[in-house]
Amino acid sequence: MDDIVALAKRRGFIYPSSEIYGGIAGFWDYGPLGVELKRNLKNEWWKWAVQMRDDVVGLDASIIMNPKVWDASGHLSSFTDPLVECKICHKRFRADKEELLRAHEKEHNEIISWTEAKTFNLLTEVLLGVTEPKQVAYLRGEITQGVFVNFGNVVDSSRVKIPFGIAQIGKAFRNEITPGNFTFRSREFEQMELEYFIRPEEKEGERVFSYWKEERMAWYVGLGIAEEHVRFRDHEPHERAHYARSATDIEYNAPFGWSEFEGIHHRGDWDLSRHKLAYRDEETQEVFTPWVIETSGGVDRAALFFLIDSYCKEEKRTVLKLHPRLAPIKVAVFPLVNNKSDIGQKAQLVYTMLKPMFMTAWDDRGNIGKRYLSQDEAGTPWCVTIDYDTLDNDSVTVRDRDTTKQERVNISQLATYIHDKLAAHEK
Ligand code: GAP
Repeated sequence: MDDIVALAKRRGFIYPSSEIYGGIAGFWDYGPLGVELKRNLKNEWWKWAVQMRDDVVGLDASIIMNPKVWDASGHLSSFTDPLVECKICHKRFRADKEELLRAHEKEHNEIISWTEAKTFNLLTEVLLGVTEPKQVAYLRGEITQGVFVNFGNVVDSSRVKIPFGIAQIGKAFRNEITPGNFTFRSREFEQMELEYFIRPEEKEGERVFSYWKEERMAWYVGLGIAEEHVRFRDHEPHERAHYARSATDIEYNAPFGWSEFEGIHHRGDWDLSRHKLAYRDEETQEVFTPWVIETSGGVDRAALFFLIDSYCKEEKRTVLKLHPRLAPIKVAVFPLVNNKSDIGQKAQLVYTMLKPMFMTAWDDRGNIGKRYLSQDEAGTPWCVTIDYDTLDNDSVTVRDRDTTKQERVNISQLATYIHDKLAAHEK
């Protein structure tokens, strides 16, 4: 884990937020490579959820909503974690995280006496307006409620018919008691969620729940997470969120143990009935409250686990074997020598040709070997070198990140070559 955190900082994937002022627990910034990785993840998800489907539409709801939303949804009363305080140093912990409590006891080297567990609400309050008393509102604790309160708007303004889904990606905020494990438990994070509305029937609920479970697992594996590093874990009844009839997590075998990065929840009619919303079947005129099957993934956790899973320390190099579609930079262009102006000029032409189509990097520092090592660590799948032969026959070498093998490709074929390789990875 230390290696990943160090690489993330050194190469510009992830930095601690407001670091020059000492940082702030549970907040992170994404650097030049990190922002590309996250954007690629979200684009892949959106393509999978919305673009490729006829039964899902998108939404982008506001982060702050009328506080009545959180009352109706049950979050004001039930979106809580149990909190205990160490009576020696007054540090606070989640009472249900045994391993953290035991680790803290080790720090003190004694059995600690803890305060009684209190419930602690995770919603983050914000104050709005200019006159006192200011209006208390909340940063959304899950992006989901924005979908439910817009259910009627989407049905009335688009052509969706049950069964259908609404997809959304956006920031959520939780006042986590113990943020930690790098970005894993943050206070500000992004979610990518699909709320899929179905008829309220037991069999249909079971069928759709297992359909989305399999789809989500296939999505992660299709983007390169090793199958043996992920698993499903069903929630015990006492673990389930207040809205869930049943829930399964997709977990990753992280350096800090098996950890959830996506939840699939059967929310029944909990939300729509709390918001007093229903659906009218246009054909039968039947009015009913749909059930909801939800897939809720964390963009930051996915980014972290893709980073961890792709990280390889080989004898002579460190390489991020990220799926090419997730790789922040797709191709890097190198002039073999940088003091030979005709090679440099030709390389600039290749660079300018590729740039509008792919995230392309330019590197003319040091020797070619060092440039390869630098791109390997950034996860760049292809490096293109312009050399003396290029001046004769217009061909370049393309070096593959994973095999380190090189191929000669004509410049006129280069864009198609990269394009085809990226498309070949499409699932
Ligand atoms: N709408 C349902 C929902 O929010 P959740 O299981 O509480 O369900 C879904 O959260 C996903 O959001 C998690 O699987 C995780 O990937 C991400 N997530 C939740 N809390 C997080 C946190 N504190 N930091 C980073 N990601 C978090």
